[in-house]
Amino acid sequence: MPWVKVTDIAYGRLQSPSLDQAEEFLVNFGMVRAARTKDALYMRGTDPQHHIHVTHLGPPKFIGLGFLVENEDELKRFARAPGAGGIESIDEPGGGRRVRIRDPHGYQMEVVCGLEALKPLPTRRAVLNWGDEKLRRAGELMRLPPGPSQVKRIAHAVVMTQNIGEKIKWYREMFGFIPSDEVYVGEQHNVIASFNRCDRGETYVDHHVFLCIEGPNTGLNHLSFEVQSFDDVMLGHEHLRKAGKYEHVWGIGRHVLGSQIFDYWKDPWGRVHEHWTDSDVLNVHAAPNLLPAEKGLSSQWGEPAPQAFIAHATP
Ligand SMILES: [Fe+2]
Repeated sequence: MPWVKVTDIAYGRLQSPSLDQAEEFLVNFGMVRAARTKDALYMRGTDPQHHIHVTHLGPPKFIGLGFLVENEDELKRFARAPGAGGIESIDEPGGGRRVRIRDPHGYQMEVVCGLEALKPLPTRRAVLNWGDEKLRRAGELMRLPPGPSQVKRIAHAVVMTQNIGEKIKWYREMFGFIPSDEVYVGEQHNVIASFNRCDRGETYVDHHVFLCIEGPNTGLNHLSFEVQSFDDVMLGHEHLRKAGKYEHVWGIGRHVLGSQIFDYWKDPWGRVHEHWTDSDVLNVHAAPNLLPAEKGLSSQWGEPAPQAFIAHATP
């Protein structure tokens, strides 16, 4: 049995040398400032959670990840896990309570509950006249206001490491993740990517919330954020492209594993942030699959993953 079964990812924590530049990128990427102090920036999406992305001031660094649990009883349970700290009140905007633990790489993982909920933000309306529902926008003209994507929520994180079998075992034991798909190269036991979701029983959750991938570097491969719609992915892409100062990494395409329509961009310090819409959702009854890399890591449409991205990690 795992120590806890987390219900979702809460936020990623990065460290960046300029909060102004970090905020500028994240606003262009489609988030909204929830709070800023002299040494930290808290960004939200359109969903109510107080923040989904934290930037601390300092040299570029991946600090770690937060995962949500339902209540304080879960925190108490987690506080007994080997290496876990005690329950703390989070002394930051948005509050909440947490238990911290170092993962096998030394990154700070947090199990969190009770973060403040804000009013959801209004979203662009994109009603589609397609498929069997040709009249959903009957008599109305579509005129989408240009601008950044509207990030809804944080969706998953990917850590690159070595011997991922061992590493993912630790994450599963700690946080209750269950495998959705695994990808191998050559021999079937040579697993190079492990896609894991939350175990919420009958409740359907995203195909993956946490991945380990095998690679030459150790650190964060990317943080991923759900946006509102296909139009929102495209509008966000146009917006970042026109900004003219951010590096595009991969996309637009549709993944095989998880099926999301994706688009990947680097922040000013090379940390990859993903937009996606339309994920597969599974519950506890879906059995895991094992696929060869050429199948699992290709795209249903759009280009396959560039080599630079496959080897990418920021410590
Ligand atoms: Fe992703």
